[in-house]
Amino acid sequence: MEPLESRLNLSVSFSAHINFQPKASAVPSGYVADTGTPVAKRVNGLNYGWSTDVSASAVDRKVPGAGIYSTYIPMNSRLAWEIILPNGTYSVSLSAGDATRVGGVYQLDVNGKQFLTGTPTRRQHILKAAHNVTVTNNRLILTSEKSATAANIDAIDVTSIATTSSLQSSTNVIQAHGGDIVYHNGVYYWYGENKNAPTTTQRKIGQPRANVVGVSVYESLDLHTWDYRGLALPVGTGDLSPSGVVERPKVLYNAHTHQWVMWMHIDNATYTDSRVGVAVSDSPIGPFTYRGSFKPLGRMSRDMTVFQDDDGVAYLVFTTDNNDSLRIAQMNSSYTALTGKNVKPFSGQGQREAPQLFKRDGRYYLITSGATWFKPNAAMYAVSSKVLGKYKPMGNPISGTGASTTFSSQGAFAFEDVATGNWYLLADQWNTKNLGASKYVFLPIKFSGSKITLGSPTKWRLGVFA
Ligand code: DGJ
Repeated sequence: MEPLESRLNLSVSFSAHINFQPKASAVPSGYVADTGTPVAKRVNGLNYGWSTDVSASAVDRKVPGAGIYSTYIPMNSRLAWEIILPNGTYSVSLSAGDATRVGGVYQLDVNGKQFLTGTPTRRQHILKAAHNVTVTNNRLILTSEKSATAANIDAIDVTSIATTSSLQSSTNVIQAHGGDIVYHNGVYYWYGENKNAPTTTQRKIGQPRANVVGVSVYESLDLHTWDYRGLALPVGTGDLSPSGVVERPKVLYNAHTHQWVMWMHIDNATYTDSRVGVAVSDSPIGPFTYRGSFKPLGRMSRDMTVFQDDDGVAYLVFTTDNNDSLRIAQMNSSYTALTGKNVKPFSGQGQREAPQLFKRDGRYYLITSGATWFKPNAAMYAVSSKVLGKYKPMGNPISGTGASTTFSSQGAFAFEDVATGNWYLLADQWNTKNLGASKYVFLPIKFSGSKITLGSPTKWRLGVFA
C-alpha cells in the first residue's frame, strides 16, 4: 500500500458566496444573489433564505466600484437568515454596513454565537468578520442581537474547510500525526497533531519543531477515504499556545458520560515540563473543551497513549523517568483523572517512547519505540495476561528488512478493522525537514500465540494481508 496521503479524502466541498441585494440589481461576479425571499432551494443548487419575506427592504446604494458593499438587506432581532448545508466545519466570512452611511451598533450572531460586532465609522463603512463554524444540524443561521441598533448585511461566504482539491495538493495532506483511530457507531475517527506550520530548529535541544496548530479530526467509513472535520482542539493560550508542545493526542468515548475525552502530551518547547492534558467534548468532532494539565501520579510524562478495556475501564500509558520507564495508570470512571492504581510494566529495556497498548484474545500487547527524537528506530513489544500486570519483553516485532527502523516509522496507535477483524499499527513516518509533510503507514499486525509480527506497509491492501 502506498503512503496514505496520496489516496485520501474524496469528500465533496461546499462553498457559497451570497450577496444580499434587490432583485433588480446586478449580481457581483463570483456571487449569487439573496434578494430577501424566504428559505428555499435556489436554481444555483443552494438552499437558503429568510424566515419571512424581506425583499421589499433590500437596498442598493449604487456606489460605483463598491461591489458587494453597495447593496444590503437590513436584519433585525425578529428575523433570521439561514443556509442549509452538510454538517462539517466551515470558514465563514460576513460583511455588514452601508456604503453611504455610518453609525449604529452591530451585533450579528452565527448559530447563536456572536460573530461580528462594531460600529461603522467614516474611515470604515463596512465591518467584516471571519471565523470557523462547526455545523452539526445542517443549518448555518444568521441573526441580530436585541441590543443591536443596526444590522445591514452585505454578503456572506461559507466554504468547507477541507476540499478535495486542497487535501490532494502536496502541501495539504492529512494532518493527524502521533494520533489514534477510534471506531464508534459505524464511523472511524482519526485524531492527531496538525503540524501544518513551518518546521524550525529548537536551538536548545537541536531538534526540529513545528508550532502548535491544534488537534485535527478526520472521519471515515472504511479506513480508505478520510474526510477532514476541522480542528477538534484548536491552538489556544497557556498549555495550548503555539510555542508549546501538544503531541500524541488520543481520544476515548465514555459510554457512561456520553463524552469524548482527549488526553495529550503537554510540554514546553524543550520537553522539560512533561505533563498530560485532558479535554472533553459532547461530539466526536469537537470542539473539545480543555480542562488543564498535570503530572500523572506526580511523575513526569512525555509520550503517552490511552487504552480502553472490554469492561469499560480506561488506562493512560506514559513514559516517565526521562523515558527510562513506562507506567500504565487506571483512569477514573469519567476518564478525566487517574485513580492512582498503576503498574510499571517492565524494566531494563532502555529508553522507550511512543507506547501503544491493545488487547486481542485476552492478551495485552504493549509496543514501544526507542528514543531517538524524530529519527526512526527499532520497535519492541511486551505481552501480559493482565492489563495492570507484569509485561514480558518479546523483542522486535519485525525481522529482516525494516526491523531496525520499524519500516522508517514510529508507532502511534494499534486498531482493528471491524469489517475484517484485521489489526493494524498506525505509524508516523516523520519528515524532520518538514514535519507537516510527515507520512503515515498502516503496518499489518499478525498474531501467532502470544507473538506478534508487524508486516511491511507496502505488501498489503486493506482487508487482505500479503
Ligand atoms: C519522539 C516522540 O515520540 C514524538 O512524539 C516527539 O515528541 C519527538 N520525540 C520529539 O522529538
